[in-house]
Amino acid sequence: MTSSSVNHIYPVIWQNDKVFLIDQTRLPGEYSVVEISLCEDMAQAIRTMIVRGAPAIGVAAAYGMYLGAKEIQTTNREVFLKKLEKIAQLLRETRPTAVNLFWAISRMLKIAYESVGNVEQIKAILLETAQAIQLEDLKTCQAIGDNGLIVLPSEPTKLTILTHCNTGSLATAGYGTALGVIRSAWRENRLARVYADETRPRLQGAKLTAWECVQEGIPVTVITDSMAAHCMQQGMIDAVIVGADRIAANGDTANKIGTYSLAIVAQAHNIPFFVAAPFSTVDFSISDGSQIPIEERHPSEIYQIGNTEICASGVEFYNPAFDVTPASLIKAIITEKGAISPQEIINYRRELAI
Ligand code: MRU
Repeated sequence: MTSSSVNHIYPVIWQNDKVFLIDQTRLPGEYSVVEISLCEDMAQAIRTMIVRGAPAIGVAAAYGMYLGAKEIQTTNREVFLKKLEKIAQLLRETRPTAVNLFWAISRMLKIAYESVGNVEQIKAILLETAQAIQLEDLKTCQAIGDNGLIVLPSEPTKLTILTHCNTGSLATAGYGTALGVIRSAWRENRLARVYADETRPRLQGAKLTAWECVQEGIPVTVITDSMAAHCMQQGMIDAVIVGADRIAANGDTANKIGTYSLAIVAQAHNIPFFVAAPFSTVDFSISDGSQIPIEERHPSEIYQIGNTEICASGVEFYNPAFDVTPASLIKAIITEKGAISPQEIINYRRELAI
């Protein structure tokens, strides 16, 4: 299937007792779907970024837990829970930074432990919970979109918004966080254009965000990451909105590498810098961003373009996939509960404990 005929984008679909994932490593050239019926395959799909984006990998991991649970051959509750812990560990080891993954796994484990039923009943509850996590994320992202409209600058009427990485339908259950706000702004006639950073080295902006915008007819201009400061200096950008992979209790935010420099440049040009994320991205257990584990990926993401190696042999590489933006650079975090200052995040700790 070519990628130009897609109406609704749902990166994770549960159908006929299997999970179907849009293969995000092949977009935009090819729209293809990968069928997953084993937990190990789900772990591999998350690791290799067939499915990616913090909320989407949370949803995928939840289904991974169910797929693993389904295969456990025992009627003994204690044995079942022990094996489920192992499945949880396998999924936890796929990617370290996005906390939604760990949040979804914990929620699945908790429901299993709290359930008073037999093994078959626990399995049924695990499936219901994975489906609930998916549906909730869809609704949450729509609420984030609405809440974003309230805090966007009121002038000009039609805004030009810069974004980084991919935070759209592909990265969530199906609407998007930062791109969800942009989508809502487009529907409300408040958007002139999106500037999408290409997002080196994996190019989620150039490949995925631009593709999603095209599906919906949203005007989009792709720039390389190094052009963002120039565009801001030229007065071309009214606001910056990015997503998040993990937000510490003090509002420090980890997101795709390059986000931190965008926040600094936005501040230098007096341009509001927003983070859009669900509360499932907040990690109340860590006090600040220095404790967020930063994933390092294979250096071939830097030295290889297509099949061509671009660097001399003997060169060393450093490839962190995320960076941390201090709370002080963030004007507001747009959540499903409203747009709140990063310093206010902590106030929600008790209300949202799972
Ligand atoms: O490495 P990725 O592609 O999984 O990174 C994704 C991001 O950094 C997104 O900005 C973040 O997960 C927010 S997605 C709604």
